[in-house]
Amino acid sequence: MHVCSIVGARPQFVKAAVVSRQLREVGEETLVHTGQHYDEELSDVFFEELDIPEPEYNLGVESETHGRQTAAMIARLESVVDEIDPDVLLLYGDTNSTLAGAVVGSKRDVTVAHVEAGLRSENRAMPEEINRILTDHASDLCFVPSETAVRNLADEGITDGVHWTGDVMYDAILDARERSRRRSTILEDLDLEEGKFALATVHRAGNTDDRSNLAAIVDGLASSPLPVVFPAHPRTVDKLREYGLWTRATTHLEIIDPQGYLDFVRLLDGAERVATDSGGVQKEAFFCSTPCLTMRAETEWVETVDCGWNRLVGPDEARIREALHADWTPTSHPHPYGDGTAGHRIVSLLSDHVTTDAPDPAL
Ligand code: UD1
Ligand code: UDP
Repeated sequence: MHVCSIVGARPQFVKAAVVSRQLREVGEETLVHTGQHYDEELSDVFFEELDIPEPEYNLGVESETHGRQTAAMIARLESVVDEIDPDVLLLYGDTNSTLAGAVVGSKRDVTVAHVEAGLRSENRAMPEEINRILTDHASDLCFVPSETAVRNLADEGITDGVHWTGDVMYDAILDARERSRRRSTILEDLDLEEGKFALATVHRAGNTDDRSNLAAIVDGLASSPLPVVFPAHPRTVDKLREYGLWTRATTHLEIIDPQGYLDFVRLLDGAERVATDSGGVQKEAFFCSTPCLTMRAETEWVETVDCGWNRLVGPDEARIREALHADWTPTSHPHPYGDGTAGHRIVSLLSDHVTTDAPDPAL
């Protein structure tokens, strides 16, 4: 089995690390980095910490408008796929790198497989929602993290090739949480006391590219009774400066560079609560039993809200303030995202699919 895995952005490195490790034990993997994230702290650090092999190809696409970026990825990826002729194109999540892989794969004789399929925010203004829908519809195999995702696909008529596997990020954090407690010194470095700080991240276009939303978020976070540590994505730093919010933000929040995975997980695990608009961070907060407020109107990870660990507060200053001050720690903790063996299940399913699909040499 020869699998070509496509990654490009920070959360995809975390997800691919889980599958890649197992994939290389049973088959051949060619790892392609589109170049979507290229800064050391958004890319290289994940390869080092998670022991991901150096990508065989880096398409070097970098930042652009969505159309140009996706088009460049499609053109360059098609040449790689022509050259290596894999059995499977393996895609992760919902970024432009995911969509580029789906377009290339769906026009060739290759199995397209999507990890984290079936998620829906029901908000088509999000670029990620369009990427998810198009990728799921172009995929032969949909590996889904939750029962809700199975239903979402069925609602759109996708039932063939759908496999519940659980969530690869759960696999990832089970390992990283323990390792980060042993290895990370971030709490000491930042002079933070376990359980006595809040952690914030913001990078969603709907928040960063809208001045009033970003200002409401800064003001809401600034009201926190605990210190707020804020590892800031470069686009958020740029926008805080552009909108004249930088001084306001740095006066009240501890803005630091994006962190490597282990230090970030240590912060998540040690925080009293998390405020974010990230998809992955909502889930990781849930896995670490850290209450989360999500600064968006909706989420794909509805189970975390249903069981009370996650509150949707929107980019709304008053609601952020209220959720930061309220005392809420749910008592029950269900496990809707599997048992930490999603990577293993995905590799077995791929292996079965490729073996079954192979032409019979006797014919
Ligand atoms: C992308 C994904 C988003 C995902 C996020 C993970 C899309 C549409 N968006 O958002 O779904 O949640 O990655 O973090 O695919 N930049 C740098 N250095 C880098 C990369 C980006 O400074 O290494 C800056 C550039 O100014 C760029 C901006 O960040 O224009 C946005 O980068 P981009 O990859 O387009 O989107 P993200 O916000 O990172
Ligand atoms: N993350 C990290 N350092 C940071 C912020 C996030 O390692 O400073 C990790 C986080 O633990 C998660 C992933 O990056 O695994 C989430 O990425 P992001 O929030 O950028 O994207 P999303 O999940 O929203 O697509």
